[in-house]
Amino acid sequence: MDSHLKAWDKDYASRGRLWGGGVKNLPILPEGSSVLELGCGDGKTLSALPVDWKIVALDVSLEALHLARRVRADVFLIQADAGRLPLREESFDAVFAFHVTGHLLAADRHALAREAARVLAPGGQLFFRDFCEQDMRAGQGEEVEPGTFRRGSGILTHYFSESEVKEIFCDLRPASIGMRRWKLRVKGEPLVRAEVEAVFLKN
Ligand SMILES: C[S@@+](CC[C@H](N)C(=O)[O-])C[C@H]1O[C@@H](n2cnc3c(N)ncnc32)[C@H](O)[C@@H]1O
Repeated sequence: MDSHLKAWDKDYASRGRLWGGGVKNLPILPEGSSVLELGCGDGKTLSALPVDWKIVALDVSLEALHLARRVRADVFLIQADAGRLPLREESFDAVFAFHVTGHLLAADRHALAREAARVLAPGGQLFFRDFCEQDMRAGQGEEVEPGTFRRGSGILTHYFSESEVKEIFCDLRPASIGMRRWKLRVKGEPLVRAEVEAVFLKN
């Protein structure tokens, strides 16, 4: 496993649950929808998803999955790389990719997008969120590829433009794409975060 992927296990093992705050603007899907979450982490988004969806969630980090299990006992969890999904094609009504694509190198971001398109059923939707170039942290750390930075923990973060997101998910049809900003405080320091939020459809 690449060192930037192993870094997640270390981070979860040493810090436990990493992600605070609520989950906003979740899509409404019909009861019984079959949903896949890529990079579910410690289960922050999972905790907010309806119990009447059939949910599969995956992460490369086993430590993350142990934490996610505490949040949702009812979902199917698997340890897997989002760029090589051990899942049948056209088997999901929706795929969530929230703050996972941006933690990959360019080739792996494209692999994730291809795999997401493959496992979506015709008419299915992909929901994407990730930090964008306007984010306060963009540019911090060592630049390992254009727009991708490694910070102290070894974790990589790529900061997207809207056009780049469309280009990566080119196997799908963009239904909406836009930027969202919000304020928060980390250790007393005020930050303005910014993300690209997009929905893609499979024809
Ligand atoms: C910022 S967390 C996102 C958590 C979650 N999506 C949420 O919204 O609550 C990113 C997660 O992506 C996982 N991850 C990173 N690279 C991955 C890959 N190639 N395949 C699957 N998961 C990956 C990390 O282990 C980490 O748990």
